[in-house]
Amino acid sequence: MDKIVSLCRRRGFVFPSSEIYGGLGSSYDYGHYGVLLKDNVKQRWLAAMVQERDDILALDSSIILHPQVWEASGHVGGFSDPLVDCRFCKRRYRADHLDDLQCGQRPSKKPGETSDCDLTDARQFNLMFQTRVGAVEETGVPVFLRPETAQGIFINFKNVAQIARRTPPFGIAQIGKSFRNEITPGNFIFRTLEFEQMEMEFFVPPAEADEWYRYWVDERLAWHRRFGLRDSHLRVRPHDADELSHYSRGTSDVEYLFPIGWSELEGIANRGDYDLTQHTNASGTKLEWVGQDGERYTPHVIEPALGVNRSMLAFLVDAYDEEVVAERERTVLRLHPQLAPVKAAVLPLIGKSEDMVTKARSLFDELRRTMSVEYDDGGAIGRRYRRQDEIGTPWGLTIDEQTLADDTVTIRDRDSLAQERLPIGGVRARISELLSTDWRTPKDD
Ligand code: GAP
Repeated sequence: MDKIVSLCRRRGFVFPSSEIYGGLGSSYDYGHYGVLLKDNVKQRWLAAMVQERDDILALDSSIILHPQVWEASGHVGGFSDPLVDCRFCKRRYRADHLDDLQCGQRPSKKPGETSDCDLTDARQFNLMFQTRVGAVEETGVPVFLRPETAQGIFINFKNVAQIARRTPPFGIAQIGKSFRNEITPGNFIFRTLEFEQMEMEFFVPPAEADEWYRYWVDERLAWHRRFGLRDSHLRVRPHDADELSHYSRGTSDVEYLFPIGWSELEGIANRGDYDLTQHTNASGTKLEWVGQDGERYTPHVIEPALGVNRSMLAFLVDAYDEEVVAERERTVLRLHPQLAPVKAAVLPLIGKSEDMVTKARSLFDELRRTMSVEYDDGGAIGRRYRRQDEIGTPWGLTIDEQTLADDTVTIRDRDSLAQERLPIGGVRARISELLSTDWRTPKDD
């Protein structure tokens, strides 16, 4: 993890938040390449959910919802972690994570392990951030920052089903920020106070719920593989009955072998009719499906829910590689080309050659109209390739003496380092073709 954190910082993917004020725990800011990578992860998810299917619609609901939403959903009453305080070191810990934590004493021990430790009994601590709507603090209405995007989908079920005239099975997909007052210190961007979620609620006839649950577990596992995660680092773990969330009839986690060990990457839950029933009862609006022949039922819901930031971390961890090429070490991110922040770098071999620079700038201007590309004429060509390898740019395009003679360029592959020569006029089409080709990581499984 240290190598990933250091690369992310060095190349401006991710910075600790509020750093000039000493930082804020479990909060991170995303720099240029981080924004581009995160954006690509979201685009691929949305394309797989909406563009490539005919049964899922998109939604973007508010972060701040009516406070009754969170009463009805069970989050006010039940979305909490058990916490203990240490009266000696004045720290607070998740009671269910004590074995994995270190206490404030040096040399560090587990909380409760030394004779000085003085732990309180566990108390439930709600994870929702509360704020107020209204100009005046005392009279403002207390509201919550959403801890999941899912509830915004459930409360819009009637709007979407009626306007789009959909019959279950159909889904509603949403990407947006969620907030949780997490006490356990995060492992980099694995667990943070604010994060983005990509959630899809799939509404199905009750009798088909189990079948669709299995379908979505397989489908989501295939998505992670499609964008490059290695099979050896992915597994599905069904939850034991005592782990299930208050709304769940069955949950499976897609787990990834992060540097911190096997951990949840995405959760797929069979939420039954819990949410639509709760909101029907609390709001008085019937959230059910009514057929033309009068048939009516409350659909059951299958939910795949993935964190954008956690997904980005898994892709970074999986892509990170170091190797020695021509007796020099290189760090390379073997990212799926569709996820790579920059698709190609245009490099005039001699930065001081006006002719090469002119050709290179013209190719760069042509490519940037349809894809994210970089132009770099600073320093030795080897060093420029290495700078691009480190941010995962799949292709390097070099303009050299031969380009000036016959209008051809070399295209260098980030992973195999193979070089191919092709006419400058065919570069855009070639890269588009490469981008749409299936890709598997060259890293050993
Ligand atoms: N609507 C269901 C739900 O929110 P969850 O398992 O609590 O389920 C879904 O969250 C996904 O959101 C997780 O699998 C993880 O990828 C991401 N996630 C949850 N809490 C997070 C946090 N504090 N920081 C980063 N990602 C988080």
